[in-house]
Amino acid sequence: MCGIVGAVAERNVVQILLEGLRRLEYRGYDSSGVALIHDNALSITRRVGKVKALSDAIEALDDQGTGATGIAHTRWATHGGVTESNAHPHVSQSRFAVVHNGIIENHKSLRDELSALGYRFTSDTDTETIAHTVAELRKSTPTLLDAVLESVKRFEGAYGTVIIDKDDASTMVVARSGSPLVIGLGIGENFIASDQMALLPVTRRFIFLEEGDVAEITRTSVRIIDESGNEVEREIVESTVEHDAGDKGGYRHYMLKEIYEQPAVVRNTLQGRVSPDGIGNDVFGEGSDAIFAKTEHIKIIACGTSYHAGMTAKYWLEAYAGVSCDVEIASEFRYRKSVVKPNSLIVTISQSGETADTLAALKLAKESGYMSSLAICNVDGSSLVRESSLSFMTRAGAEIGVASTKAFTTQLAGFLMLVLAIGKQKNMPKDIQQHILSALTELPAKLEETLTLADEIDHLAEEFSDKHHSLFLGRGDQYPIAMEGALKLKEISYIHAEAYASGELKHGPLALIDAEMPVIVVAPNNELLEKLKSNVEEVRARGGIMYVFADKDAHFESDETMRVVNVPHCLESIAPIVYTIPLQLLSYYVALIKGTDVDQPRNLAKSVTVE
Ligand code: F6R
Repeated sequence: MCGIVGAVAERNVVQILLEGLRRLEYRGYDSSGVALIHDNALSITRRVGKVKALSDAIEALDDQGTGATGIAHTRWATHGGVTESNAHPHVSQSRFAVVHNGIIENHKSLRDELSALGYRFTSDTDTETIAHTVAELRKSTPTLLDAVLESVKRFEGAYGTVIIDKDDASTMVVARSGSPLVIGLGIGENFIASDQMALLPVTRRFIFLEEGDVAEITRTSVRIIDESGNEVEREIVESTVEHDAGDKGGYRHYMLKEIYEQPAVVRNTLQGRVSPDGIGNDVFGEGSDAIFAKTEHIKIIACGTSYHAGMTAKYWLEAYAGVSCDVEIASEFRYRKSVVKPNSLIVTISQSGETADTLAALKLAKESGYMSSLAICNVDGSSLVRESSLSFMTRAGAEIGVASTKAFTTQLAGFLMLVLAIGKQKNMPKDIQQHILSALTELPAKLEETLTLADEIDHLAEEFSDKHHSLFLGRGDQYPIAMEGALKLKEISYIHAEAYASGELKHGPLALIDAEMPVIVVAPNNELLEKLKSNVEEVRARGGIMYVFADKDAHFESDETMRVVNVPHCLESIAPIVYTIPLQLLSYYVALIKGTDVDQPRNLAKSVTVE
């Protein structure tokens, strides 16, 4: 998704801005641009394609990009096609330059109003209305800050925006509503970005802006006005994110690195929270155990991969802890009328903590009378964490690959801990508690063992590369894992993949089966195994070719219609986490053969901050 970097300094900031954009590349984008103020002149450079094209263009300039104040942007097109004229920054009156993440929903009426006032639009974007609105209101206000404070009253929708004025190079003004912004504090210089990752080479001290904040940033000062118009102080946070989190560490892709990090990050997620004796107190935040004691129903809300983690958790929460649970896609929940059951806890899951639909769903849930809210999240200080009463950090470390891997498995580990924490308050039978504790204890080692299947899966991937469609099957708590496997394959290899609960086969999808449609089956040795085997026979009888990831004791044998990969035996409750690994590896190796952009698949973005 779009990325923002800005700086006010004494030194030339162009390389800081470009490096910031490079560090945001993982979020997905299609064009980029930089605006610099130098000697009371504004210079704008924009390019379609990778940041490399932008930095090459800047290098070719006479002054190779000079300016101690500047803003930069990577754009992921929403309004207007992928063209240089639609790339940010957008400019008004050759004086004001603007970068923007989010969507100004009332841009059409603003465009009409501003056009009537004589402003000429040179792009199809909603963002250009910000530049002209600020320019218009600056005429009747004493400072840029005042002009922006007036302007935001006219904007509907979501924005994280930064505005500079060539007539006052000492200042940039930023505004946040629905799209994150973080101020980076330097010594005699200050910065802004949509993600702290962009600024880690220049500072570790951050102020996370809150909803409705507008801030004026100079080299030596930061002034923040909250949504009620009051000047406020916000906490300065020392970042714990590793500076080199953006390093591939010798792996060919971030995604592969992140797949291999899973044993370690799952171990980190468990550390100090759960031991073979039990789950700690208030692991999900201060007062969480008391809230869990009162909880009668859990509603889980998320998007994409995080939604699949929620779906898996529903099986666990109901089967192990005996607590009723339903799971919903955030973009659906936020636009429908729903009934809140008594003593309901809302649980949101998000790797980034900035997903627009999930944030909006949480806001709605809080207004609708949920007893309390819990965020399961990977980014400390993110909007979701700040806006929830309780939180649990997944400790996966920065996830750079657009396709989520380690965030998912740590979310699942977090959910098994949630089962333990809630179960403790609900008299969950001792044998179930002991089973989950033993399973979590063996989990990191089981993940390590499962990763040794990589070579076998790499060979198997060759059989997929010429296929256009595929079907993933699972039952029970493996059904969401089949869904996640299908999502991974489609997003990075562009092979159409669908997932079904295998009991549903005969209700429609069997019609699709032929030798050109590989069927991928996840088959741990559990009480549904015999049912699953019947479904496998249904596929075989129709000439389907299957790839079965199965427990050795499930007794599947490879033959001309079936390739079997034996997954290490594990305790039942962690099987969904263990079986995720071979599906991630399969997608990765298929994408590698197909030569797609594994870490930044086409059309996709990391952290979807627009609806
Ligand atoms: C898929 C993927 C997405 C995200 C989804 C939600 O690999 O990464 O489906 O899971 O966009 O993102 P978060 O978890 O940041 O809310």
